[in-house]
Amino acid sequence: MATLGVNVDHIATIRQARGGREPDPIHAAVLAELAGCHGITAHLREDRRHMQDRDIYLLKQIIATHLNLEMAHTQEMVKIAIDVCPYMVSLVPEKREERTTEGGLVVRGKEEELAKSIESFKEHNILVSIFIDPDIKQIKSAARTGATHIELHTGYYANASGSAQEEELVRLQDAALAAHRLGLVVNAGHGLNYQNVTAVAQMDYVEELNIGHSIIARSSLVGLDVAVRDMLTLIE
Ligand code: PXP
Repeated sequence: MATLGVNVDHIATIRQARGGREPDPIHAAVLAELAGCHGITAHLREDRRHMQDRDIYLLKQIIATHLNLEMAHTQEMVKIAIDVCPYMVSLVPEKREERTTEGGLVVRGKEEELAKSIESFKEHNILVSIFIDPDIKQIKSAARTGATHIELHTGYYANASGSAQEEELVRLQDAALAAHRLGLVVNAGHGLNYQNVTAVAQMDYVEELNIGHSIIARSSLVGLDVAVRDMLTLIE
């Protein structure tokens, strides 16, 4: 069974809307863990639009599962990540004007510069995942960087419907198999919700699903405990 990492960024988004202290993503992370999730994911963006530095340091200290820190590959973020020492960093592309991460990281042509940072993460016992499109060229490049994991971008699958969605699912399956053969651990995420998660959870070689928006959206209506448990039931 794939495990579930809950992304708590959107709790911070609500907090930042008023600039106060609530709701606190640390509380959300603890509640998600008590509901049975297997990990907590948080994205420290360069513009600090939701998670703040304090959140990342506190998450590391407080959560009982593992912390997956999403970050852009910048000097500032590499420094913070090594200081926080999360279980895993996930390298993602970042654009100021986007609402959420739009595509996978383009790894081709950047293998050497990524490999340097990945080496120093590994020296600090931090696992490294790269968020990429389900594209064989990107997967091969990711394997060359020394990354331990990839996270397959499921957004194209999530946004498609009918036969186009089935095609995207096949693309994800082929990508997962290729990555597995190259020795990469495969995670997946983006746009997964209560309607579309099952097919991805059933895919071979997918270890962990990172899900944020749909769980936090449902939690605003039914509470985080129920929202996380409902998602776990579907994944199981
Ligand atoms: N994985 C990555 C790399 C992401 O950037 C995000 C969004 O922060 C997610 C997963 C979760 O996506 P969603 O909020 O659509 O579930």
